Amino acid sequence: MQVAVITSHFFMLLNIAIKVVENEMNKIFWLLLGCLISPLSLAKTVDLASPDGKIVVSINDDKVPNYHITMAGEKAITKSRLGLRFKKAAELGEGFTITSVKRESVDTSWQQPWGERKTVNDKHNEITVTFSHTREKANSFNVRFRAFNDGVGFRYEVAKQAGLVGNIEITNELTEFAVADAKTSTAWWIPSRGWNRYEYLYQTSNIETIDRVHTPFTFKYPSGLHISIHEAALVDYAGMTLQQLRGGILKADLTPWSDGILVKKKAGFTTPWRTIQISKNAVGLLNSDLILNLNEANKLEDTSWIEPGKYVGIWWGMHVAETTWGSGDKHGATTSETKRYMDFAAKYGFDGVLVEGWNIGWDGDWYHNGDVFNFTKAYDDFDFEDITAYGHQKGVRLIGHHETSGNVTNYRKQMNDGFALYKKHGVRQVKTGYVADGGKIKRIDEQGIVRYEWHDGQFMVNEYLHNIKQAAKYQISINTHEPIKDTGLRRTYPNWISREGARGQEYNAWGSPPNPPEHAAILPFTRMLSGPMDFTPGTFNMGFKGLGANSDRPQTTLAKQLALYVVLYSPIQMASDLPRNYEANLPAFQFIRDVPTDWQESKAIAGEVGEYIAFARQALDSKDWFVGALTDEQARTITLKLDFLDESTRYQAQIYRDGEKANWIDNPYEMIIEQKEVTYQDSLELPLATSGGAAIRFKALN
Ligand code: NOJ
Ligand code: CA
Repeated sequence: MQVAVITSHFFMLLNIAIKVVENEMNKIFWLLLGCLISPLSLAKTVDLASPDGKIVVSINDDKVPNYHITMAGEKAITKSRLGLRFKKAAELGEGFTITSVKRESVDTSWQQPWGERKTVNDKHNEITVTFSHTREKANSFNVRFRAFNDGVGFRYEVAKQAGLVGNIEITNELTEFAVADAKTSTAWWIPSRGWNRYEYLYQTSNIETIDRVHTPFTFKYPSGLHISIHEAALVDYAGMTLQQLRGGILKADLTPWSDGILVKKKAGFTTPWRTIQISKNAVGLLNSDLILNLNEANKLEDTSWIEPGKYVGIWWGMHVAETTWGSGDKHGATTSETKRYMDFAAKYGFDGVLVEGWNIGWDGDWYHNGDVFNFTKAYDDFDFEDITAYGHQKGVRLIGHHETSGNVTNYRKQMNDGFALYKKHGVRQVKTGYVADGGKIKRIDEQGIVRYEWHDGQFMVNEYLHNIKQAAKYQISINTHEPIKDTGLRRTYPNWISREGARGQEYNAWGSPPNPPEHAAILPFTRMLSGPMDFTPGTFNMGFKGLGANSDRPQTTLAKQLALYVVLYSPIQMASDLPRNYEANLPAFQFIRDVPTDWQESKAIAGEVGEYIAFARQALDSKDWFVGALTDEQARTITLKLDFLDESTRYQAQIYRDGEKANWIDNPYEMIIEQKEVTYQDSLELPLATSGGAAIRFKALN
């Protein structure tokens, strides 16, 4: 009996033990199976190819929404997160799956009122991917991707929904751009969130060593694949900079408000487009309209008052300390000096004269005195009526100037009166300035409290655009200095005619160090991808502090200064040096007089980032072409094939190039000016000196 009980107990226990093992085995089996099949069947991937099929974006929902991009089979961007995080709602990210997709293809073109080219083609494929979650609130968002032959753009579209109503605060944008190989890549970059805004020297390094950078952020892989990350249509959102997480994962790093929030929105919104330009070589990045194509169409009914053109100004004198912005003996902005500049402008065919320092507020430490700028009151020695009447007679317009020193509340209060005064006097263009350290834009909020903001945070993004919209009401175009970076908004608001947003010529007056020889060979591939720049080229006197390698002054040859007018696109270009320096070299000055600022077509012909660049541009409604070529400190000869010229036209090439012994250090002025008859079948050899250049006008002869 006892034996029987023990035996039955034994079998019962054995049974249980077997069941437990079986159960565990089962679990392990299903777990293993799950692991094997889940990536195959549970996560969903959708692909979007560019019209030529070379660029493919794959969007996937494995654990978190993510995407990656290939170009002709090569990894361009590897698996990268998508998503947004909010202060008061659960994140759009983890646990969302792809629930629907909508596709579209576009092949169209549109015209610009001014630009690098008259007609812009927009050919792309689009996919709108809906990500959904099973939870009740904040459970759906779209990501719209567009694939062009020259890259990809995508943006978030967050509809109003339960959990996302009223005021919405974004505390993190989870977007990543993971590079395929950080170690062997080469990148050209400036740091973000620094005191000097965008006005830094470009660094060249692999991506592994970078921390926080501004966009456009350009890099290349050893294969020669070039990529530039930026954004398009930055409206009512924080500017995106990039921060490296571990190992080549670049994450969207939005510039915060003074209270730490990144973006404040009302429910139902879209973000700016995140853009990834991709090309198998460096110049391909330059022949891309991707960013403009991702902006909305022109919103201004009449654009006839927006005038591209060339200008001179009471400006360089202050930068080289011959004159002052403030009042006194050396005051630059006087009636007689302005008239003298107007005479000069009229004589040599310039459209406008910029005058800085005419208005009350410049005395003392203007950099820190934004509170006292007055935008309607002139100094006593500046007679507005007299000057503008004189300009009118001569066919030269006064170009206005509003320096705010970053005190934007003071400016806001007076902005309309300032524009009204200018309009009354026929001024069509105003240069604005926001000189203040990064993070030190001063505003007074609704409660009267002083707040300090970044130039590229959402508050200032809105403030800059407000300025543009107000100016449009007075038929005024704006050239913003110390701006928010360009993101192609000139398409929507063509009166945003130019801006600074990088180290310009002014650094060659007082910068220590000044812009090095490579600077102008990096700008086209970085800053210029975002849009026009008011670099203010045209320094003719390089020796105001003596020549030689060690003085802080323009480190270029004269021919390179001429090349800048073609290379660095802007619909308004300044001849920035003093009139006497131009009158001392009229043959070279002729190129600046001849070069237009509005183009039928533009083509980057050859170049490598930070080494050299050659651009060809066709004058608007004309058969004439212009070429600008320049190099870094490395002297080199480039062969320019003229196959861009019209096939049935003979041309006179008017060539301005470095002389045989020219070099930026002690012989910057030696230049050969020669003429040659050429056709589209010819080539030109252009020897470029160290930090040299060449500028050519191809004048149609038939
Ligand atoms: C900085 C601008 O870049 C420069 O062009 C201007 O002269 C000064 N601010 C003064 O407004
Ligand atoms: Ca500046």
